[in-house]
Amino acid sequence: MLALTARRMGYRIAVLDPELACPAGPVADLALTASFDDSKALRRLAEASDVVTYEFENIPTESLRQIASIRTVLPDPSVLHICQHREREKMFLQSSGFPCPGFEVVASAGNLAAALKKFPGKSRLKSSAFGYDGKGQLALDSKADPAEAWARAKIPRAILEEHVPFVRELSVLVARNAQGRSLAFPPFENRHSAGVLERTVFPARLADPVANEALALARQIAEKIGMVGLLGVEMFEMPTGKILVNELAPRVHNSGHLTVEACHTSQFEQQIRAVCGLPFGLVAPLCPAAMFNLLGDLWANGEPDWSPVLALPGGVLHLYGKAHARPGRKMGHLTVRASTPEDAIRLGTEALTPIRQAAGLSTLAL
Ligand SMILES: Nc1ncnc2c1ncn2[C@@H]1O[C@H](COP(=O)(O)OP(=O)(O)OP(=O)(O)O)[C@@H](O)[C@H]1O
Ligand SMILES: [Mg+2]
Repeated sequence: MLALTARRMGYRIAVLDPELACPAGPVADLALTASFDDSKALRRLAEASDVVTYEFENIPTESLRQIASIRTVLPDPSVLHICQHREREKMFLQSSGFPCPGFEVVASAGNLAAALKKFPGKSRLKSSAFGYDGKGQLALDSKADPAEAWARAKIPRAILEEHVPFVRELSVLVARNAQGRSLAFPPFENRHSAGVLERTVFPARLADPVANEALALARQIAEKIGMVGLLGVEMFEMPTGKILVNELAPRVHNSGHLTVEACHTSQFEQQIRAVCGLPFGLVAPLCPAAMFNLLGDLWANGEPDWSPVLALPGGVLHLYGKAHARPGRKMGHLTVRASTPEDAIRLGTEALTPIRQAAGLSTLAL
């Protein structure tokens, strides 16, 4: 999506991805199939490019530094260094005074035993490295057996985080340029299922003070971390209206996919503008919208029959062209535009019902 947008803006594209069948490959002028630490491929990518960015967090920071010795890399590798490691990210948020759920660093069963005592109710053990889509997490409570849980987690380092009874999950995508100017999209309202983003609603249905607080936090975080590019800030809205920061993504974000249809400028274009030194585009919403992720589970009985979705007047189907559908794998998404967020939710949910049923899945909640 980033490459397609860059092409439309007149840029030529080089990509590096370890997978031969990566979705960006066919859209790129130069597609390098190599591991993220292949020095020769990194050098080729750098030499072929004017500016290099990334849209995936599990890249060694060292590799970005190697590219940065030849060409500009944005966001700076130091930003990825923080955001790709939950412990560093939490320490950054906490030490900068940004509100986030309570946590303890855990590197042994003994640490876990002590940490569990700190949080009397439910908690989550989250791996410090390589977590995404809820992977590398264990739900625990204060009665859990620390030795058993630590053995089951099979991770070298983690944080134990208190479970927070949020009323809503939000995200704010803020773009910041090299001159320090920032511009955020209005907040997105997200719902996850089994740790994976299920649905985004736009604009988020929030009281103004809550929306303003979310926007202010995202801008302050972008500034503090020295962001150039797009920063996704995932947040929890608490029953009191207070916001807690969950995590940071120094890249285009799944909740922003609907900006392609619902905003003057998409998140992809805004990211390209930020890293190429162009002025920002308008972020005002064009219409309410809902985005539904299409996971590999929908392919349980073969390629879905997309007719109900294709028949939706405000519907836009995106399929990423990934070669293999696996349960939980993000294969595409559906964006539905409508005159209210509620209509967008209802129309999308209804259109997906027969497709889900054909794959043996239950209907999504409204
Ligand atoms: N402390 C918490 N209290 C309650 N729910 C939580 C908490 N932490 C995470 N969750 C739930 O689990 C989801 C995934 O958690 P988190 O964002 O930390 O994981 P991730 O695997 O890094 O996800 P991502 O794919 O967004 O990178 C959250 O969006 C939220 O629904
Ligand atoms: Mg998350």
